Amino acid sequence: MTNGIDNLLHETRRFEPSADFRAGAVASEELYEEAAADRPAFWGKQSAELLHWNTPFTKTLDWSNAPFATWFEDGELNVAYNCLDRHVEAGNGDRIALNWEGEPGDSRTFTYAELTTEVKKAANTLLDLGIGKGDRVAIYLPMIPEAIISMLAVARIGAVHSVVFGGFSAESLRARIDDAAARLVITADGGWRKGKVSALKPAVDAALAIDGDGSSTVEHVLVVQRGNNDVEWFEDRDLWWHDEIGRAEAEHVAQPFPAETPLFILYTSGTTGKPKGILHTSGGYLTQAAFTHRNVFDLHPETDVYWSTADVGWITGHTYVVYGPLANGATQVIYEGTPDAPHPGRWWEIIQKYKVSILYAAPTAIRTFMKLGRQIPDAFDLTSLRLLGSVGEPINPEAWIWYRDVIGAGKTPVVDTWWQTETGAIMVSALPGVTTLKPGSAQVPLPGLHIEVLDDAGTPVGKNAGGLLVVSEPWPSMLRGIWGDPDRYVETYWSTFPGKYFAGDGARLDRDGDIWLLGRVDDVMNVSGHRLSTAEIESSLVSHPRVAEAAVVGAADETTGQAVVAFVIVRVEQAGDLRQEADALAAELRAHVSSQIGAIARPKQVFIVAELPKTRSGKIMRRLLRDLAEGREIGDTTTLADTQVMNIISTNIAG
Ligand code: WTA
Repeated sequence: MTNGIDNLLHETRRFEPSADFRAGAVASEELYEEAAADRPAFWGKQSAELLHWNTPFTKTLDWSNAPFATWFEDGELNVAYNCLDRHVEAGNGDRIALNWEGEPGDSRTFTYAELTTEVKKAANTLLDLGIGKGDRVAIYLPMIPEAIISMLAVARIGAVHSVVFGGFSAESLRARIDDAAARLVITADGGWRKGKVSALKPAVDAALAIDGDGSSTVEHVLVVQRGNNDVEWFEDRDLWWHDEIGRAEAEHVAQPFPAETPLFILYTSGTTGKPKGILHTSGGYLTQAAFTHRNVFDLHPETDVYWSTADVGWITGHTYVVYGPLANGATQVIYEGTPDAPHPGRWWEIIQKYKVSILYAAPTAIRTFMKLGRQIPDAFDLTSLRLLGSVGEPINPEAWIWYRDVIGAGKTPVVDTWWQTETGAIMVSALPGVTTLKPGSAQVPLPGLHIEVLDDAGTPVGKNAGGLLVVSEPWPSMLRGIWGDPDRYVETYWSTFPGKYFAGDGARLDRDGDIWLLGRVDDVMNVSGHRLSTAEIESSLVSHPRVAEAAVVGAADETTGQAVVAFVIVRVEQAGDLRQEADALAAELRAHVSSQIGAIARPKQVFIVAELPKTRSGKIMRRLLRDLAEGREIGDTTTLADTQVMNIISTNIAG
């Protein structure tokens, strides 16, 4: 991603907000001024305006125990009440909350009143199962309404959800269940993907059978019937969702909880092999979720139809499918399946069907559509669209322009939003109707945030210079820690530049001071907008009996941003005739990673090599392997212990 930056900075196209858009815009220039005067007070005002507090807070930020922050600590609220009941009480019960579209073309619609009732029944079911405040519930579901209902039901009773993306393997699921000591798993028999039912429950069964004998913390598995595929049944443990919800009481009064009540844990990849359980709490998180969703997407809840294509297994699905839109009373679309099932125009068909006005998607999808050609979207009526968003990785100017021209009829603003699982909500983005847009740049910190680009010594770089992105002041939706590991929290985020949050991203300021993201500076890869750790995939590879050593790099890829490329050394006693076997072994190793971590982590390429490039102190020089994987001339090799090693590897690969 860093290669093209000089070209990028010569990008001169600019798009001013139209007079019409500006006139009706939710956001305004004043937000910046107001926030600059007093950040915590600004957030306090936003929170009081956007949310219902049963007990109003009298404090905003408490940073006295930095880097452990609290926001609105003495206030009390119920997150699910804010997303549901209050809209019904305000007379909007008949507004559609969810337009759900199944992959095979079935659909379901929930008004706010209906969704509230479903969540109340689910909350009562959880209580009947003995789940209470502070208990952890793992959610391993496809993109079906029950995923959202489950999350809100858990939140409603003050419990903590840990959503695990349905593409993760049994082992990954088990590691997350164990780390959080989850008492309940909510799953489905299966869901629709790429034209067929993909089973989910067998992975839960396998996850709970790892280590033998039911020794996990899980007491029950609640199973939604979606795929109608056959599943194994464990009488004392498994329960059908429809049976339990069918007999649950439809009344449930939401109790308020203190603002810092844990809301969810979401695991994400870091620089080590073990995923981090990122912890978010209630009041501050919901404040920034609602604020950003309203202002960055210019949400007019009475008229807009909003669609984020993210899965609830990722942070985007948490903040911009569940909490932000529902707190704001938005009408949204959710879609179960893949963009190309049963035909490559499926997304555009959905936009036409539901008259979607705001679309939030990932650059990898946009680049894929670009490749397929504009005749596919051109066949549908996309005139309802008035705003487009992008998230997950840098969007290159060509993809940005294509998105605006072809999908947005050459007139919709495109907002490129930078943020992370850890930040909880959008941090850097243009504000539609306010900012003059610049394709390829995420542009400016949102009001109420202090974001800088620092050099290695911690000094802010000036305009027209690059460095590391940091958040210099605490913000409401910041992570409150890593589940069960306060030291790792301090070490990972707050030790590079004491007192400032280190994001792990490189960035550059242009002449105007706008921010251009350059990708990760650590051993985290970004494949199709999904975060993967080189260390986690390496440790999976070396767990294979035939592998002695492995190095994984993220190599630039036209469509997916980066692709996983692995270099492995095979154990000597098992080497056999490698030439003949290499292809078969590479295939086996790719499948091995897929079954251990999940299909998203499956290496695109596996090279069997005789050596790995190492420094004298034994550290693998991934930089050189990346050069090789990207077909570039090999960079500086002078710090290698054995300077011949890259020649050997190149020959291996060519062979
Ligand atoms: C990258 C996803 C450039 C970045 C919300 C970050 C981006 C990581 C952008 C977080 C963007 C996300 N431009 N890079 N607009 N958005 N990233 O935790 O490297 O899954 O650190 O959160 O994605 O990924 P995560």
